[in-house]
Amino acid sequence: MAETRERWSSRSAFLFAVIGSAIGLGNVWRFPYITYENGGGAFLIPYLIALITAGIPLMILEYYVGHFTQSAPPTAFKKIWHRAEWAGWFAILLIFILSTYYCTIMGWSVNYLFHSFSLGWGNTAESVSSFFNNSILQLSESPSAFGGIRLPIVGGLALIWLFIYLSLFKGVETLGKIVYFTVIIPWLIIVVMVVRGLTLPGAMEGIKFYLTPDFSALLKPKVWLAAYGQIFFTLSLAMGTLIVYASYLHEKSDITVNAFLTSIANCLTSFVAGFAVFSTLGYLAQSLGVSVKDVTTSGIGLAFVTYPMAISLLPVAARFFAALFFLLLLTLGIDSAFSMTEPVVESIVDKWRLKKKYVLPVVCVFGFLIGLPFTTRAGLYWIDIADHFITNYGITTVGFLECIVIGYVLGAKKARTYINQVSEMQIGIWWDIFIKFLTPAFLGISLVFQFVNFIRKGYGGYPIWTTYIGMGFIVVLAIAAIILAKRKGAV
Ligand code: TRP
Repeated sequence: MAETRERWSSRSAFLFAVIGSAIGLGNVWRFPYITYENGGGAFLIPYLIALITAGIPLMILEYYVGHFTQSAPPTAFKKIWHRAEWAGWFAILLIFILSTYYCTIMGWSVNYLFHSFSLGWGNTAESVSSFFNNSILQLSESPSAFGGIRLPIVGGLALIWLFIYLSLFKGVETLGKIVYFTVIIPWLIIVVMVVRGLTLPGAMEGIKFYLTPDFSALLKPKVWLAAYGQIFFTLSLAMGTLIVYASYLHEKSDITVNAFLTSIANCLTSFVAGFAVFSTLGYLAQSLGVSVKDVTTSGIGLAFVTYPMAISLLPVAARFFAALFFLLLLTLGIDSAFSMTEPVVESIVDKWRLKKKYVLPVVCVFGFLIGLPFTTRAGLYWIDIADHFITNYGITTVGFLECIVIGYVLGAKKARTYINQVSEMQIGIWWDIFIKFLTPAFLGISLVFQFVNFIRKGYGGYPIWTTYIGMGFIVVLAIAAIILAKRKGAV
């Protein structure tokens, strides 16, 4: 029933919503770290190639699927090919699990925001890492030692879900207003952090470290995999969000220009945020009298250990900048978080014609409950493991299926004709070539490559049974998706 479908109130509301979904925790810690790990400045080459050869074509494809079918992923795929509905459910289940731990990480940030006012983590390497591991997480010694839930994290998690509920319950029109704040506030904070960072002593050493190109990295397959992985993660691809958001567009609105604008805005934000992070790390290295290499930590540790420590050492207004940084993480993350919940709710509403006002609170409560294991003392391990399997296998599989269904079953040319009819900018045959051959070939190779690696080594130094659980879980989600697709809907 397209005529009763909710709508964005303007084109910019849609653009801000998608940019808000794309820009998240991934831009602040993941991008800078991945860049320097994979050749520094030289990494920007595979990154740009990945953006052009996979990011933008797939984004156009997802906007098309939402725009054309006016439905959430399961129904959308069903309308394109009756056998493809399960692929939509698979994406929805993956994003639902992703949302449960993404919100847990935000729950940590809530705690850190409170402690910013007293700089509770101190200013030595030991005190900062002990604050994270012992005070906040009370991390246990292994993934099997759950040891009870951490109430302060549960409190933060509940607050985040409440926020998600409040942002979504009035519908997309209100959502379209909230996203202006959740995009513009972090942009302003990033500008402040870049200026502060670049004016610190030692900043240039950090920037050099970030951007000095190591061209030999371009010969390593791992670097190319990292570039494609980062593009998929950062653009919120293959998880249903873009399809749902595009389904709220009017039937005549543009697709291609919107896809270029959103992906470029996201990638520029990452690039700029890298200056804030690395200038500050340069300062930290200089304060400690070590090289930048010795202070950089990967992933989660960067945001919750290294960066807070650097902030504690600031000459003036350290508490202010600490609070600003965690406010940055929260405002960056919240619009990504609700963009993970909306597709789940909308998929259920679409299939069974239920009322959104009843589905939304149920999804939020379940999301909160399923997140509880991640708030236990073994939570950090499980977040790491879940994230590895969901982002590496889940996103790749869904992206691959999308290319096959649109490229072959429907026909890339047919999709392109529709896209060109509604868009301000025309796309050529290159798009068909990417969707039918290059993008699925790359995704297929990367899936096989990672699978072989997993058989050989397991993941991340954890006991091997955790790898079986991770892999088994993905299989269970796929089976659950098939069962959901077989259930009778309301239409
Ligand atoms: N892009 C978001 C970030 O960088 C996170 C993310 C990954 C996401 N996949 C997603 C958000 C799917 C929404 C939907 O933090």
